[in-house]
Amino acid sequence: MSAKLKKSKAKNSVPRRLRSEVEKILITEEQIARRIKTLAREIERDFRGHELVVVSLLNGTVMFLADLIRHLNLPLRLDFIGVSSYGSGTESGELVFTKELRLDVQGRDVLLIDDILDTGKTMSHVLPKIRALNPRKIKVCVLLDKPERRTHDIEADYVGFKIPDFFVVGYGLDFAERYRNLPFVGVLHPHIYKEVSKQIVQK
Ligand code: IMP
Ligand code: MG
Repeated sequence: MSAKLKKSKAKNSVPRRLRSEVEKILITEEQIARRIKTLAREIERDFRGHELVVVSLLNGTVMFLADLIRHLNLPLRLDFIGVSSYGSGTESGELVFTKELRLDVQGRDVLLIDDILDTGKTMSHVLPKIRALNPRKIKVCVLLDKPERRTHDIEADYVGFKIPDFFVVGYGLDFAERYRNLPFVGVLHPHIYKEVSKQIVQK
């Protein structure tokens, strides 16, 4: 095997220390980088001529946001909304706002960013909150979309990747606040969240 091929294989495989936790890479670092560039072009086309207010949901969007806005050739301001779901394991529970929006969005163009659109519950709480502030327009952008799991009538305007119903981690996405630093999106081994759910049930 050539050194170059070896290097690219190593880059596209789960690091050894994580092999018992992360089953496989679903979306590689390179695939993410490529898609973000085309996503940025789509967004630029729709928002040209107006200053944008980018509203990003904490904490899962950190990497996606940083990469996406670097490719957005538009004037923009940036703010965050903190929203946490206190669920057990991989199921979402009660939503709690941990940081409120500070920028004024009245009459503005808003791009709302989240890491993943799953059941749609988070967006169904956040969207009305922003709509109540009377923006001129509001569009939703997510890195990942799991349409199979949707229970709320929410769709995103920009989707990086549609994925099947796997619990994924990495590139900002977490399980119990872990794995956010992985440069790829990987599928979490079910035994990881089954163990945690068992501990929660036993408590
Ligand atoms: P929703 O409210 O069910 O649409 O879920 C949205 C939130 O749940 C996201 O912002 C994520 O924080 C979390 N979430 C949903 N699916 C996954 C996943 O597969 N991996 C990590 N987090 C997830
Ligand atoms: Mg999360």
